[in-house]
Amino acid sequence: SSCPTFFPFSIICLITTLNPLCFGHISLFSIPVCGPHIDIRNDISEFKKLENCTVVEGYLQILLIGDKNNNLNPEHFRTLSFPKLTMVTDYLLLFRVSGLDSLSMLFPNLNVIQGRNLFYNYALVIFEMTSLKDIGLYNLRNITRGAIRIEKNPELCYLDSVDWSLIMDAEFNNYIAGNKPSKECGDVCPGIMDDRTQCIRTSFNDNYSHRCWTSNHCQNGKNPPTILDLAHPKCCHPQCLGSCTEPDNDKACAACQHYFHEDRCVEACPPGTYKFEGWRCITMDMCARVHLPSEVDFVIHNGECMPDCPPGFTRNDTQSMFCSACDGLCDKVCESKTIDSVDAAQSLQGCTVIKGNLHINIRRGTNIASELESFMGLIQTVTGYVKIKHSHTLGSLSFLKSLRYIHGEELTEQ
Ligand SMILES: *[C@@H]1O[C@H](CO)[C@@H](O)[C@H](O)[C@H]1NC(C)=O
Ligand SMILES: *[C@@H]1O[C@H](CO)[C@@H](O)[C@H](O)[C@H]1NC(C)=O
Ligand SMILES: *[C@@H]1O[C@H](CO)[C@@H](O)[C@H](O)[C@H]1NC(C)=O
Ligand SMILES: *[C@@H]1O[C@H](CO)[C@@H](O)[C@H](O)[C@H]1NC(C)=O
Repeated sequence: SSCPTFFPFSIICLITTLNPLCFGHISLFSIPVCGPHIDIRNDISEFKKLENCTVVEGYLQILLIGDKNNNLNPEHFRTLSFPKLTMVTDYLLLFRVSGLDSLSMLFPNLNVIQGRNLFYNYALVIFEMTSLKDIGLYNLRNITRGAIRIEKNPELCYLDSVDWSLIMDAEFNNYIAGNKPSKECGDVCPGIMDDRTQCIRTSFNDNYSHRCWTSNHCQNGKNPPTILDLAHPKCCHPQCLGSCTEPDNDKACAACQHYFHEDRCVEACPPGTYKFEGWRCITMDMCARVHLPSEVDFVIHNGECMPDCPPGFTRNDTQSMFCSACDGLCDKVCESKTIDSVDAAQSLQGCTVIKGNLHINIRRGTNIASELESFMGLIQTVTGYVKIKHSHTLGSLSFLKSLRYIHGEELTEQ
């Protein structure tokens, strides 16, 4: 696709590139990657965990801060800003943080939420945020996987003014409800008042209107990543995702289309390095030192550093970092589980045997059959029973494509 020639919207580029500084919570790696997850709760001082983070590898949860006894107001958040943060690889969740009225100061350069692991079916959750007036993530360009849930935020406006289809492919699964009624909002995009509108207009939910995140920030269009120069817009390097600080420089990307290796965005991990967490390349030596999340030793298989061998493979001896193909079948046995979301299904990835029962109770989410198949499609045997409840959105059980035996060692109502 070509680079458009006119950009009637402003991009504020404070984005720092991924510099080889050494800090974050995993000092093992030479870039400011924080993880395996970041959980900020109870006290505003917890935000210092985010200091220095460029990428949160895992989820970012911010919750339960400020209550009736400990009243926070927007002033408390004015000085908090994390302009370095450009990407979250799992999901971003905000729940009951009082006093916070916008995320525009907090995360001005958050470009990408990958949704590698979801919170239920969601990559962005904003729930019961009592003071939030706008989302304000004005540099958010791509939610790679998963939908969003924005619910019960009594002051929250600027929801109709965002075109989610510019950011994500699964926007039909979004759930946005119980926020400030749009009639009471009076959202105004930048420039509208004095007839010098700067924001793009698009059609979303049968509503053709201007697109913005706040009264000061337009929403960016779905164009190739570009940096603003009204006369000569310049494209980011094709390996960039989101935006960049310099044109056509694979070292200046806010996030990568494919993989990140030694300061650059690359198409594939070069020889001698291995894919890790779906977004970066690490050496074998680094892979040997990863013990997250639960003291497991990672393995290298098929060019990737991962927690365990894939189905059909097993460690060639218990201490080994390598996998070899099983002689015949090698089962991956998993415990009973209730599948109520894509996230729950993901926990059954690679399982061939369910020891116990399989409950499927999916109340939300359309077009998720292919996700279910990729996580549950190898299940061959269930030792107990299989029970499917509700799950109106599932047109078929074809995602259980390998299921051959239901032993019925345990039954539900006979
Ligand atoms: C962030 O970086 C500064 C300077 O290198 C360091 O002093 C500080 O401890 C770091 N913060 C965290 C949370 O790692
Ligand atoms: C269309 O969206 C605008 C905000 O961008 C809102 O003010 C207006 O009420 C919406 N119209 C309809 C018919 O939903
Ligand atoms: C988000 O990025 C992914 C990976 O590059 C791409 O496949 C997808 O189409 C993008 N989504 C949108 C809405 O631009
Ligand atoms: C395990 O596999 C690795 C890599 O394929 C090989 O170098 C090693 O000798 C194997 N170990 C055993 C015990 O088979």
